[in-house]
Amino acid sequence: MTSVGRSIMRAVLVRQFGGVEQMKVENDVPIPSVGDKQVLIRVFISGVNPVDTYIREGVFVVRPDLPYTPGYDGAGVVEAVGKRVTQFKPGDRVFTSHGTQIGTLAEFTCADETRVFPLDDKLTFTQGAGIGIPYFTAYRALFQKAHAKKGERVLIHGASGAVGLAAVQIGKAHGLCIVGTAGTKEGLELVKNMGADAVFNHREKQYMAQLEQGEKFDVILEMLANVNLGKDLTLMSPRGRTIVIGSRGTVTIDPRLLMGLESSVMGVALLTATPDEWKDLTAGVVEGIKAGWVKPIVDKVYTLEEAGNAHHDIINSKGAKGNLVVKVQD
Ligand SMILES: NC(=O)c1ccc[n+]([C@@H]2O[C@H](COP(=O)([O-])OP(=O)(O)OC[C@H]3O[C@@H](n4cnc5c(N)ncnc54)[C@H](OP(=O)(O)O)[C@@H]3O)[C@@H](O)[C@H]2O)c1
Repeated sequence: MTSVGRSIMRAVLVRQFGGVEQMKVENDVPIPSVGDKQVLIRVFISGVNPVDTYIREGVFVVRPDLPYTPGYDGAGVVEAVGKRVTQFKPGDRVFTSHGTQIGTLAEFTCADETRVFPLDDKLTFTQGAGIGIPYFTAYRALFQKAHAKKGERVLIHGASGAVGLAAVQIGKAHGLCIVGTAGTKEGLELVKNMGADAVFNHREKQYMAQLEQGEKFDVILEMLANVNLGKDLTLMSPRGRTIVIGSRGTVTIDPRLLMGLESSVMGVALLTATPDEWKDLTAGVVEGIKAGWVKPIVDKVYTLEEAGNAHHDIINSKGAKGNLVVKVQD
């Protein structure tokens, strides 16, 4: 028996890698027990990210033992803490990312204390579930990889999704000039409302010509490198840095474009951040929550039974407008 007063819970289980039909809600999943340095979280909302779908399909570098519960991100309250936990106590509002023993599409999840973060009262649990991967990735790309400096020009190629909007907010809060792209009118409006200095529609033919005519970029955050990397190389200023965040295929580039400008292309993978880098990411994002510029935009909330639809929609989006999340329990 756990501190919760029961030993089983509702959770999504994946028993075989494959399509969304592999995601089934089961009612008798064991509630995880808390390790010494772990926090047991009562999950209200689970955040959905593209990586969750790659893992479910079995095509990602991480292949959990089956059966498993998907979901890296989530928000809720602390239910119990391990003996050696110092930062949290039962009842605290928290969000978690990348540290849970079982995924967040479950009534309870257990996370390492280092991957549990305070959720300020000014944010809802729904917003809290949208912080993790999107904000930590955007922060890592801008500062740990691109080393962006105040006043630099940044192109966010794909700014209407969860990572893109986080990058717009982080960039504006740190004095960067932000140009963002989106593929729909609603997406463009959202990116502009988040504070972007200019927006372009990446589904319009002439947008690249318009970007090429303007001032070059010191930093480019690229969400779909297999489509855009070749073009990005023509948009960088001397010593410009393009950071590949997302890519779904291969692409041909002209490497000569990098030589004269001494510009560079670098990948980012949140998964590989070191413990020290995590401390820095945590400090940056938690500071942003306190300061009020971390404001996740949630486009749609799904029920636990609809978690498979959320996985489908995040990959087959016709126009992103922020995060997709799943309500696990009231
Ligand atoms: N490397 C890492 O550590 C890491 C971490 C997190 C995410 N990612 C990856 O980063 C990507 C974005 O993640 P997300 O959570 O923001 O996904 P998302 O919410 O689904 O957003 C996808 C974004 O890509 C944009 N997009 C679509 N077509 C585009 C095009 N031709 N050119 C430029 N952008 C285009 C979308 O714009 P419209 O819908 O408006 O067209 C939207 O802004 C995904 O591939 C994800 O797997 C990587």
